[in-house]
This record gives sequence, structure tokens and C-alpha cells, in this order.
Amino acid sequence: NLKSGSGRGAHPACHSEPVKQIETTAGYLEHSMTEEGKRKRYQRIVEQLEALLVKSNDRTAHCATVAAVLHHKVPGVSWTGFYFIKGGDLVVDAYQGPVACQVLENHKGVCWAAIDNDATQIVADVHAFPDHIACDDRSRSEVVVPIHDSAGTPFGVLDIDSHRENHFDEVDGAGYEAVVRLLETTWNTPRSET
Ligand code: SME
Repeated sequence: NLKSGSGRGAHPACHSEPVKQIETTAGYLEHSMTEEGKRKRYQRIVEQLEALLVKSNDRTAHCATVAAVLHHKVPGVSWTGFYFIKGGDLVVDAYQGPVACQVLENHKGVCWAAIDNDATQIVADVHAFPDHIACDDRSRSEVVVPIHDSAGTPFGVLDIDSHRENHFDEVDGAGYEAVVRLLETTWNTPRSET
């Protein structure tokens, strides 16, 4: 006869039903995966995120959820997270992985290149990238996708790193872009008041 938290699936701290936990995939299973298999995996991730992002209207909650799902469902990644422009710098937001640089200044590095060129960056070898900012010196390759506001101006990025050189291809780039399109739609579509 409990008063709170006694409903089926209720969690007192969560105000919502528990999220089905996802399996952690370690290592570089990528090798055994076909392009089609990878494409389908990103499709499943987007579908899962569509169901999760309606559970709040909060951007931080959305970013934390996206970082957690992506980081645990894409094999071989070392860091998955967000930077947003604040006061002219890129400032870190929700992420999964080792401690990262909090502020990226001066339009240097891969994240700023994604913003300044308004284009996804797939970098096979970060050591060959001019002005690359090494938050984790084990990082070897990365993908950065710009995130746009409702006027179409980039105001942040989704950044994914790997300790393995040349870890990401066009399928990964398109997969992460699909996730960013979902966030843009979620954030930039006016909600009806009814
Ligand atoms: N590599 C990024 C810096 C951020 S970290 O990778 C988390 C860059 O060069 O912009």
C-alpha cells in the first residue's frame, strides 16, 4: 500500500517509466559489419531517440540522452558529446567519455571547422588536421556535425572521437547527421499550445 513509486515501472526520481537499458559494446566490432548493417544500426538509433526525446522539452536532457545512446551503441568510439557557442567560444555540453576541454577558443580545431564551413567534418587522422585541439592525446579520428538553429545558422556541434585512426566513414557521417536532423526538428519546430 505504498503511496508513491508503487506503480508498475515507476521510479521516484524519474517521473517516467524506466528506459530499457542498452548493451555496452566494447572493442572494434566495426570490422565485421557491412555498410548496410551500419546504416540499419543508425536507423535503429534514430528510432530509439525519436521515442526518447519526446519525454522532455529540455535541451540538456536531450543532449545527455543522445550522448548516452550514441556512445553505447556505436562501437569503437572514445568520446561522444556536444559543444555549443557561448560568448563567442565553443563550450562543452553533455558528453560521455574522458574529461574533455571545456572551452574551444579562436576558431581552431575540427569543431570550429564544422561551424565555420557549415559542413560535417570526417577526419581520418587528427594529427594531420591543422590546429587540431587534442583534449585526449589518444584521439586519432573524429566526426563533427554542425547543429543549426531555426534560421539555419550553426550554433553548436555533435562531436565523436575514436582512438583508432580512420575509424569513421561516410555511413557514420550520414548516421550522425540523421541524429542531428532529429535534434534540429525537435528544437526548431514550434510546439502547439494544445
Ligand atoms: N577535437 C576537437 C576538440 C574537442 S574533443 O575532441 C572532445 C577539435 O579539434 O575541435
